[in-house]
Amino acid sequence: MRIGIETLAFYTPHYFLDLRTLAEKRGVDVKKYYDGIGQEKMAVAAPDEDVVTMAANAAHHALEGIDRQSIGAVMFATESGIDQSKAAAIYVHSLLGLPKNCMSFEIKQACCGSTAALQMSLGFVAQNPKKKVLILASDVARYDLDSPGEATQGAGAAAMVVSVEPRILDLSPEWGTYTEDVMDFWRPNYREEALVDGKYSIKVYLRALTEAWREYQQESGRDFDDHDYYCYHLPFNKMSRKAHLHLARLTHHDDIPDEELLSQIEEGLSYSRVTGNSYTASLYLGLMSLLETSRCDLTGKRIGLFSYGSGCMAAFFSGVVLPGYRKHLQTERHRRMLCEREELDFARYEDFYLHHLPTDGSDYETPKHETGLYRLAGIKDHKRIYEFSGAAVDRSSTETISGLQKNSVAAA
Ligand code: HMG
Repeated sequence: MRIGIETLAFYTPHYFLDLRTLAEKRGVDVKKYYDGIGQEKMAVAAPDEDVVTMAANAAHHALEGIDRQSIGAVMFATESGIDQSKAAAIYVHSLLGLPKNCMSFEIKQACCGSTAALQMSLGFVAQNPKKKVLILASDVARYDLDSPGEATQGAGAAAMVVSVEPRILDLSPEWGTYTEDVMDFWRPNYREEALVDGKYSIKVYLRALTEAWREYQQESGRDFDDHDYYCYHLPFNKMSRKAHLHLARLTHHDDIPDEELLSQIEEGLSYSRVTGNSYTASLYLGLMSLLETSRCDLTGKRIGLFSYGSGCMAAFFSGVVLPGYRKHLQTERHRRMLCEREELDFARYEDFYLHHLPTDGSDYETPKHETGLYRLAGIKDHKRIYEFSGAAVDRSSTETISGLQKNSVAAA
């Protein structure tokens, strides 16, 4: 039985900060950001967006052409969750009108939670081949202002449907995995910003890559050059370069010129260069970037995928691109969404960053900004109120939105 990715879509906020603006304000040479870490812009979520609205926006498009009644599970990976008890998956399930006979739950293990969901979905559809799984990965990457991590912030959501009718990527069953108890990056419940030991986190990332690769190689019998392209978790783009050169060295392929090695990862970096880290969504944003921006026909090409979540857990796996995959991508919509964004000046970036929802239980109406199809309208009686944005046209799509669920959804 073939199992894999049938549809793939992403959403990133309408607003971004150019890292040139950040560099000027922080007195840093902009080349450190543009070249040193490989990042140019970072997406900034508006005050009326959260992981639910971003995921709903991505899911709306991932479900185009899919019979919604076939969705048997919604698995939502995030590390910027909005509730300690209720899964963000249930809010999206409701906003998108998914069938009641469905499992909906949240998964957490830093950036690797989405890959845990993907692994779990393979078993789910193998046992229930008539059903499909909607995987959501949505995060706001947030560090302290004026900290080394600030330039690696970002936001976004990825959504994918996994089924026995894959149209984009056929996932191979061999996986290499790794877990180690480390404090490289974490976020205690009382903080909105992650704590991080940046340099150490890079070391652990590479160690986890070594170990996950070794198991994957043993299981699959595949070597480095059995893969045509590689996508790595992207906390910042330079990390992918470090990871790929590390893997080439580890597998004794460091005689290949750097230029040739880097051509195996470069097209996967275009989107994250201008969105920043989107934690759980980042690897899948990289995969979309590769598939959608590559000038070559990738049919039949094997892509190696490495997922890393601080703390830490990692996985190496791979898949083969399916014939006709281009027809099922949302390349034009994604390109337009990225091109039509609005640049923030530094004061507005700080305003967005410093905006907080009340934590004392008072009711609150969220200021209205440019969002996708779904927004966070506010809080009432301790409940987040989501609404359909009400705009007549989805700014990232040419289709009108009539016929979609127009009611606000108050999810308790
Ligand atoms: P830093 O320490 O301020 O930067 O922050 P640096 O001094 O290491 O410089 C960065 C690079 O820029 C270096 O390149 C410099 O040489 C270069 P490298 O040596 O690494 O190749 N550079 C310049 N280049 C050109 N012109 C210049 C210039 N100046 C310097 N003028 C750090 C960097 C990554 C530590 C920081 O941004 C950080 O803490 N980020 C957050 C943590 C992180 O992203 N870790 C990555 C691995 S952990 C992970 O991936 C998981 C994560 O996504 C979370 C999760 O799983 O949930 C984070």
